[in-house]
Amino acid sequence: MSELYVPPQISGELGQATPKAAADRNFFARSRQAPSLSEIDGVSVETLASRFGSPLFVYSERDLRTKARRMRRAFQARYPKTSFAWSVKTNYLNAIIQLFRKEGWIAEVVSDFEYDKVRKLRIPGKEIIFNGPYKPAAALKRAISEGALVHVDNWDELSHLEELARDAKGPIQLGLRVWLDAGIRPVWSKFGFALANGEAERAAARVIGNPKFRLHTLHCHIGTYILAPGAYRVAAQKLVMLRERINAKHGHLVDCLNLGGGFPSHSLLHGMMGPAETAVPPIEDYAEAIANVLNELPVKKRPLLRLESGRCLVDEAGYLLTSVVAVKGINRPSIANSDLSGRDYKERIVLGEDSKVGYVLDAGINLLYTAAWYQFDVRPARQASTPAAPSRLYGPLCMAIDVVRENVDLPPLAAGDVLSLHPVGAYNFVQSMQFINYRPAIILLSEDGTPEVIRSRETLEDIDGPERLPAHLSVA
Ligand SMILES: Cc1ncc(COP(=O)(O)O)c(C=O)c1O
Repeated sequence: MSELYVPPQISGELGQATPKAAADRNFFARSRQAPSLSEIDGVSVETLASRFGSPLFVYSERDLRTKARRMRRAFQARYPKTSFAWSVKTNYLNAIIQLFRKEGWIAEVVSDFEYDKVRKLRIPGKEIIFNGPYKPAAALKRAISEGALVHVDNWDELSHLEELARDAKGPIQLGLRVWLDAGIRPVWSKFGFALANGEAERAAARVIGNPKFRLHTLHCHIGTYILAPGAYRVAAQKLVMLRERINAKHGHLVDCLNLGGGFPSHSLLHGMMGPAETAVPPIEDYAEAIANVLNELPVKKRPLLRLESGRCLVDEAGYLLTSVVAVKGINRPSIANSDLSGRDYKERIVLGEDSKVGYVLDAGINLLYTAAWYQFDVRPARQASTPAAPSRLYGPLCMAIDVVRENVDLPPLAAGDVLSLHPVGAYNFVQSMQFINYRPAIILLSEDGTPEVIRSRETLEDIDGPERLPAHLSVA
């Protein structure tokens, strides 16, 4: 044992900036001051909001590239035959797709819309993986004619592909989506062919038996925000065993195992205690779990490993800047001037609707689909010296459910104060709604700190454009 005693470091920024602090272990303690965030990559949050308008999505190119490179290192150092695909649905902004492309990522799409979008960016078919339970006929036809790798999801789709293959030159490279139990609940059984009852093997036999096809990939995606690296060990083992059985039966060694995405970002689910850095295993643990399985195979039999991550690469790169537009519930009782007993007061502070200060923001669940699951880190742009108090954050919608955080410690704020919500880079803008409000502008902070508009704020024309008025309802 070391002779040296290292005293714990006590931090005022509970659970926020100092993951190793002893204070982080004290989950229920409150710091006097809520942490602030005045800059993103050295650029002033308040300046961004006033220059480009509020609300405003901001992405950090530096963070995106750092994450991509760390992931590549983590896997390729342990298993050099690893390749990466960008899960387009996680964030389909052209600038984001392009950025990953420049980092060497191919594209993974799950619809005709996404397929069209990446083709418009001139990503060739052979650099596209086409997943998903519903691939419209025209898109499927186009995908195979352009050499995209289609991951077959179900028997109907396989029959459809067989029809298309009759007129095609072939061989058409296919993957099979497989669902399996890796110990994660719920098991995602909606997608692909079941492993446990032999369905996946039957599908493989049918693909291999068709001279127009070549079975290139066995694919699974066990879920999202998976906190257990061991689940990937199980998934990899099960896919390896399936590959072995297919090889033994048909003499065909499948080239590639695709383990999907699902690695978590540094966000916290509601009710989870932070900080995220201690709750979420590092990407290296996932790489280790998968590589250990594949490295047990003889070198010549090692497959190409493919991953198609989304949230773990893009979530932390995304911030939503938002402004307070109104303060609610300022009639909070105080011990000094009310006749409430201490106990009643405490109850009202902790539970009471009227006791919690509320802030109406200009951004809500219309832009933050994942607010239902994740507790965003909320930081005022300005550091306040006043103690933090339990607060509720309302969105701007005329809907009672529009609450971004039920309970978050914040210093007293006033209309006009700018806040950042983080991490929001995954599955938020892409699922945002054109409901009640226009969707905001989106900025990419380039590595030198230059803010580039990558999507402008919507206008009436964007929303109204596709609408048509029947003649009898036309505006006179
Ligand atoms: C087939 C497939 N691949 C990749 C992903 C990306 O997942 P994640 O964002 O959890 O990495 C998903 C998302 O659900 C998916 O369905």
